[in-house]
Amino acid sequence: MSLSFENISFRYKNCYPVKQSIFSNFSLNIQLGEKVGIFGKTGSGKSTLIKLITGEEKPQKGKILFQNQDIKKMKNLFENIAILFQKPEKQFVFPNIKDEIEFISERRKIFTQTLIYEFADKFNFPLKSYLNRNIYSLSLGELKLLQIILVLSLNKPYWILDDPFLFLDGDKIKVFKEILANINDKTILILSRNKSDFKGIIDREIMLTI
Ligand SMILES: Nc1ncnc2c1ncn2[C@@H]1O[C@H](COP(=O)(O)OP(=O)(O)OP(=O)(O)O)[C@@H](O)[C@H]1O
Ligand SMILES: [Mg+2]
Repeated sequence: MSLSFENISFRYKNCYPVKQSIFSNFSLNIQLGEKVGIFGKTGSGKSTLIKLITGEEKPQKGKILFQNQDIKKMKNLFENIAILFQKPEKQFVFPNIKDEIEFISERRKIFTQTLIYEFADKFNFPLKSYLNRNIYSLSLGELKLLQIILVLSLNKPYWILDDPFLFLDGDKIKVFKEILANINDKTILILSRNKSDFKGIIDREIMLTI
């Protein structure tokens, strides 16, 4: 048991007009090395699940365990888990691309920066010429690509990817699919509306209903 949700019940306190539950007794165990897809319609709770992992929201019932430890008590959870947020504003700390790269590669500078440029090359993203740009001057697709490049380069053992193909064109999706299909040393959780996008990539799927 690697990452597990145990009998999670959750609803937003300010839910209007009805206090609708997003999760009722939701359980899921993700084993080490698995590639799991969680699919569901808009509003089914995919991004909410990530907020429960990060602690931005707390379940009213149940708990989330990482390697058998309650994540509430863990200080080093994000040394193991890299999250690609659906909303880019949740991803970036600095408005300037160079500052963001310096920041995320602080501890393992050369190693991380090498990976960043390797992933940028794979996606054919001209990162070097974008270094002095403000992230919000990028197109939506470019911003999403930069998010992906930085998250993958963190080289954490767990990848949680919320709506990973959002805003990407067909060529970039193809590159990303190849990366995801060929990687063998990561545990990957993908959240998306379109399960057909992840055929041949994931080992197991879970459907969320509204
Ligand atoms: N802070 C909040 N307060 C109240 N309701 C919220 C809050 N955040 C999200 N919701 C609602 O919870 C439901 C689930 O939202 P969530 O973002 O998890 O959906 P999703 O499955 O990720 O959808 P999408 O496919 O559009 O990304 C939605 O109806 C949303 O409006
Ligand atoms: Mg979402």
